[in-house]
Amino acid sequence: MSDQAQEHLVRFPGDPRPLEDGELVVLRDERARRSLITLRAGATWHSHAGALEHDRLIGSPEGTSVPTPKGVEIVVLRPTREDFVLKMKRGAQVVYPKDQAMIVALADVRPGMRVVEAGAGSGALTLALLDAVGPDGAVLSVERREDHAADARRNVERFRSGSVENWTLEVGDVADVLRTTAAHRVVLDLPEPWHAIEGAAHALSPGGILLTYLPSVPQVMQITEALWAHGSFTDVATSETLVRGWDVDGMAVRPAHRMVAHTAFLTRARRVPSREEGGPPLPRKRRASSAVD
Ligand SMILES: C[S@@+](CC[C@H](N)C(=O)[O-])C[C@H]1O[C@@H](n2cnc3c(N)ncnc32)[C@H](O)[C@@H]1O
Repeated sequence: MSDQAQEHLVRFPGDPRPLEDGELVVLRDERARRSLITLRAGATWHSHAGALEHDRLIGSPEGTSVPTPKGVEIVVLRPTREDFVLKMKRGAQVVYPKDQAMIVALADVRPGMRVVEAGAGSGALTLALLDAVGPDGAVLSVERREDHAADARRNVERFRSGSVENWTLEVGDVADVLRTTAAHRVVLDLPEPWHAIEGAAHALSPGGILLTYLPSVPQVMQITEALWAHGSFTDVATSETLVRGWDVDGMAVRPAHRMVAHTAFLTRARRVPSREEGGPPLPRKRRASSAVD
């Protein structure tokens, strides 16, 4: 265990052991406002709800509720990955949990795989990819900006309680890094992924998957055109994910008034041999439109 892991512990939510000095926890008030803190013997948490001594929580089971002097009930829970990602310090905009889940599903990221992702940004997607590949897989995160790379490292190592053996973080341009590496999956959350298509074609073997995460329609149009034009990708398809919560209270059951609606489009493509190397033809519609051109 590294020094950081010793002074800072993250246990799975649902771990039967009582909460310990040094553990990362979420404090939740009655209006579902959450704070992420590390329990420290002798320390006090101050908030709108009043002061709360950490010692009142250390040694308690997860889920314990204690009142503050202002009478606000505070529940203590171990953080889920979602809690952590929504509360961790960020520089770059993070991939939200609804999209993380779909990225893992659509890119078919599985235990034992090697995944290259860029940019690392705040490390939110990195955490989801590390969980998906498991201890026998590996994630290489590439980030162009030193400051964002530092954010990603801090967040990933904080949630993983120290250095992560199967994770490599490289500062550089992913287009260059991909040309010198191999991967089962390439996941790109950066504004101009078309510059990395050649690199992704090099890194992926036929059958491998490239997935891009882009917020705007012009970007989706450009990556789609570039992938088809490259000639070594097929099954280029785009989707977005809308998750709507529901308020369920007795007989009053209705969709929540608010939702995180548009975040970004996911465009997924399969690496294949080029047509000359025996790969598939363009889909009929595309062949027809290029004939008109
Ligand atoms: C939206 S953020 C990524 C957020 C990250 N996926 C997360 O969930 O925390 C985009 C990042 O891509 C980085 N970036 C942009 N172009 C890049 C490139 N060609 N190679 C590597 N990183 C790049 C940016 O510096 C920025 O940090």
